[in-house]
Amino acid sequence: MARRWTNTLTSADVTPKAAFLNRRQIMAGIGGMAGLAGIGGLPQAAQAETLEPNSWEDVTTYCNYYEFGTGKGDPAKYAGQLTTSPWSVKIDGLVDRPGDYDFQQILSEMTLEERIYRFRCVEAWSMVVPWTGFELADLLNLAGVQAGAKYVGFETLYRPSEMPGTAYRALDWPYREGLRLDEALHPLTLMATGIFGKDLPNQNGAPLRLVVPWKYGFKSIKSIVRITLTDTEPQTSWNMANAREYGFYSNVNPEVSHPRWSQATERRIGGGLFASRADTQMFNGYGDEVASLYDGMDLAKHF
Ligand code: MTE
Repeated sequence: MARRWTNTLTSADVTPKAAFLNRRQIMAGIGGMAGLAGIGGLPQAAQAETLEPNSWEDVTTYCNYYEFGTGKGDPAKYAGQLTTSPWSVKIDGLVDRPGDYDFQQILSEMTLEERIYRFRCVEAWSMVVPWTGFELADLLNLAGVQAGAKYVGFETLYRPSEMPGTAYRALDWPYREGLRLDEALHPLTLMATGIFGKDLPNQNGAPLRLVVPWKYGFKSIKSIVRITLTDTEPQTSWNMANAREYGFYSNVNPEVSHPRWSQATERRIGGGLFASRADTQMFNGYGDEVASLYDGMDLAKHF
């Protein structure tokens, strides 16, 4: 399969966390971004080189995964009981090869890469996470996207016996998300299977979750069991819960406030109690790569 990123790693390259953090390869995915951004890529890559990942502790204990409770510590406390093997992903709708795709089989067909991305929650906190994963485009190509497809819908596992948070109707389960097809096929859009070179901990969405770094974190749906190609915009959980507060696009945008708080700045997790807030960047800093997807769109209207 043709690669759009210059430096790719295979699962054989994945190393334990400590060694991983010291490796030059940690920047491999970021180096690839230079290629993506073309001539403008070098400064972008240089900027990316300064990205300092959060700690393992930050990423795995400060989580949002409402199926296990709404507290930030609930997923780390309760997600351990989730059975993640065997696992399969149903891919259906407007695809040539619909079916149940076994997770191990998917892994054997994909090229794993390591990428450090900024991650910005709609609640105005942020982290930097070193993900391992493959491009969603490659998985969609495996299933064969049909010409009429315009959107991609995603669903999380719904298994009340292992998910205590689903006893409450915090959201309309199963958790659902969606992307426009061009967003889904964008090379930055990742299906993550790991962090810090290790398999994804359950609380972070094992065994595979979406990562869309230029959108608010709630678009990055965890523990995916179904992917559906459609010609109409799919319903999404947060939009169904409150359409005024959570739009379908949810691109990170410092100029469009959440109805109840500003999005102009963010609190970097791990920065300490007295750390000053950082300015939020348009498209979370990935504008060079993705702004053209929204040419001509009013982003305040399509928030
Ligand atoms: N996916 C599911 N299934 N359930 C959730 O509650 N929370 C979302 C997103 N994906 C969520 C989810 C939100 S609001 C955020 S900010 C991120 O996951 C958090 O990812 P993290 O806990 O790995 O940082």
